[in-house]
Amino acid sequence: MIRARIIGTGSYVPEKVLTNRDLEKILDTSDEWITTRTGIRERHVAADHENTSDLATKAAESALEMAGVNAAELDYIVVGTITGDYPWPATACIVQSNLGAENAGAFDVSAACSGFIYALATAADRIQAGNCKKALVIGAEILTRVVDWKDRNTCVLFGDGAGAVILEAQEGERGILSTHLHADGSQLKLLYQPGFGTRMVPSPENLAKGEHFLQMQGNEVFKVAVRSLSDVAQTALDANGMTVEDVNLLIPHQANIRILEATAKRLNMKDDQVYINVDRFGNTSGATIPIALDEANRSGRINDGDILLFNAFGGGFTWASALLRW
Ligand code: ACO
Repeated sequence: MIRARIIGTGSYVPEKVLTNRDLEKILDTSDEWITTRTGIRERHVAADHENTSDLATKAAESALEMAGVNAAELDYIVVGTITGDYPWPATACIVQSNLGAENAGAFDVSAACSGFIYALATAADRIQAGNCKKALVIGAEILTRVVDWKDRNTCVLFGDGAGAVILEAQEGERGILSTHLHADGSQLKLLYQPGFGTRMVPSPENLAKGEHFLQMQGNEVFKVAVRSLSDVAQTALDANGMTVEDVNLLIPHQANIRILEATAKRLNMKDDQVYINVDRFGNTSGATIPIALDEANRSGRINDGDILLFNAFGGGFTWASALLRW
């Protein structure tokens, strides 16, 4: 059986670090509040000259190098992002050009924090169908440009970054075993960016009202996120006839520590089964899972044959999981 196997990982975060202490100087907040409510201590923030495609390209170059793959070998590039360089065309097309991936089709997937798993699923399905041999899948975001830096309810949560994987078609039992994707658009206003799509155009009035900033009902999101993240992880295990004990490492979307802990508790997972780095990067939306995966991979936390589980929840609402054998 042909499976999509991850043969290289990469990530990139901007140099500039913004700590909770830095935020104390510009907002009515405290390191203590942010740390206890979210587990976040610092986040990386893109420099003015950096765009989402720049972060994505750097992460991709690092993944290509680890995989020993030349960009011209890629058939397919998918970027999960909600903060692309332009409303259109796709950031994936800019990455394709930056890399010189002359043989690759390229497009973006918009599924907010679930964007990386959605992107991974489309590439894995295409590989398993025999239509593609090598694919580049990226999660990349500059969330700090769509948050209102005067809104302490939201701006403290997010950071910028990108992570990437190279997938290759391989015979055997290793690779992506399943993906599950879900959505519920009826609740989109609990977490969304009202402007400036075609529904609310960029006018001086809308700009003055800050309609282009991310808006969120944090309490409501929290409850749905915990339930959906644990349910979709359990769905992945059930679909593969596995239990929580079979999982070597859960790499969840890094939203905040309380969501991570509550989800792990609902799943009966032990602490050492869950990878956490939200303290150093904050919520980088579609980039959290591939950044955490790259860290875990490069630090030797993952061994051949390990069972890895990814789960994510985000705006849309969207939620998703992927189960793989390394
Ligand atoms: N610093 C200090 N005080 C703050 C801050 C801040 N940064 N932000 C909010 N507060 C205040 C509020 O104004 C409120 O004050 P009030 O009681 O005087 O009105 C008080 O803290 C409590 O506010 P709540 O919103 O009830 O705080 P809560 O305990 O729910 O924590 C949080 C807020 C952290 C956002 C929580 O709801 C949460 O984690 N939600 C999930 C949201 C999330 O992770 N979204 C990311 C995208 S979705 C995803 O990735 C899964």
